[in-house]
Amino acid sequence: MIADQAATLREIRKNQQLRQKASAAGEEAARAGRDVRVIAVTSGKGGVGKTNIAANLACLLVKRRKETLVLDADVGLANIDVILGVNASFNLYHVLKGEKTLEEILIDGPGGLRILPSASGIPEMTDLSRGEKLTLVDTLSALGERLDIMMIDTGAGISSNVMYFNMAAKEIIVVATPEPTSLTDAYALIKVLYQRYAKKRFRLIVNMVKSAAEAREIYFRLSNATSHFLNLTVEYLGHVVLDENMTEAVRKQTALVEIFPEAPAARCLAKVADKIATETLDAYENGSIKFFWKNIIDQNRG
Ligand SMILES: Nc1ncnc2c1ncn2[C@@H]1O[C@H](COP(=O)(O)OP(=O)(O)OP(=O)(O)O)[C@@H](O)[C@H]1O
Ligand SMILES: [Mg+2]
Repeated sequence: MIADQAATLREIRKNQQLRQKASAAGEEAARAGRDVRVIAVTSGKGGVGKTNIAANLACLLVKRRKETLVLDADVGLANIDVILGVNASFNLYHVLKGEKTLEEILIDGPGGLRILPSASGIPEMTDLSRGEKLTLVDTLSALGERLDIMMIDTGAGISSNVMYFNMAAKEIIVVATPEPTSLTDAYALIKVLYQRYAKKRFRLIVNMVKSAAEAREIYFRLSNATSHFLNLTVEYLGHVVLDENMTEAVRKQTALVEIFPEAPAARCLAKVADKIATETLDAYENGSIKFFWKNIIDQNRG
């Protein structure tokens, strides 16, 4: 009887020690990565301004002394490098294939912004061995540890390529416009990310509006739908007015906030950047960069 009790106690002690060890290891892993914020800029419908918003916000965050990198995760045509007039000859695919190093493919954008060109090669990773994947996670993590913010310009919609990045990001910014289909597509995207991928926090930027009031109205329509049908609240992050300076900046292949910092749309973006740069996040939102990449790469297993 007593021997039994002693054995049970020993068992409990052993389990406690194991749990303590595991939790210490978890904390150490969390500490190992700097608290880089991984922010995905995404949308249900294409052409709503994701790439322009991601590029300009990233420029503005650099100006606010945040080490920022934009990860171009889109397969579309008007990518970050085109918009910012920088030349991306190689991308993550070449790193995956071992043809280039990560440092060789990184591009310097305006004002110290760094760009990691098209990650659309990630779905090709199924043919990498486990060892190769782990090396890749380490390389990418090392890069992330020097950053404050990694902004991901995703494609539009609910294809798996878009989902990889939204799933792994801790913060999701949904971009929508007053166009009715943009709103229904934003709802559809949020629904999938919430129901299938358990994402709970979404923030909305309404782009191409005439006024802040119009943006609010769009926001209320979307958040009413998500609270009513999904029991989920979407947060309002800001709006960007329809501004022909944006088109002009794209034509000039320069960031709007660099050439027309006083343009109406640039002022709107500055407000959003201020919010992002100054907010404090709870523990849930901070995650190590290693965890981010590991997530992405694990999703590709098999
Ligand atoms: N606030 C704005 N005012 C005027 N034009 C804008 C504004 N925002 C974006 N645009 C224009 O809309 C077009 C689409 O923008 P952008 O390429 O950033 O969209 P996207 O969501 O990234 O598209 P895709 O889904 O194809 O990746 C561009 O020509 C851009 O100049
Ligand atoms: Mg785009």
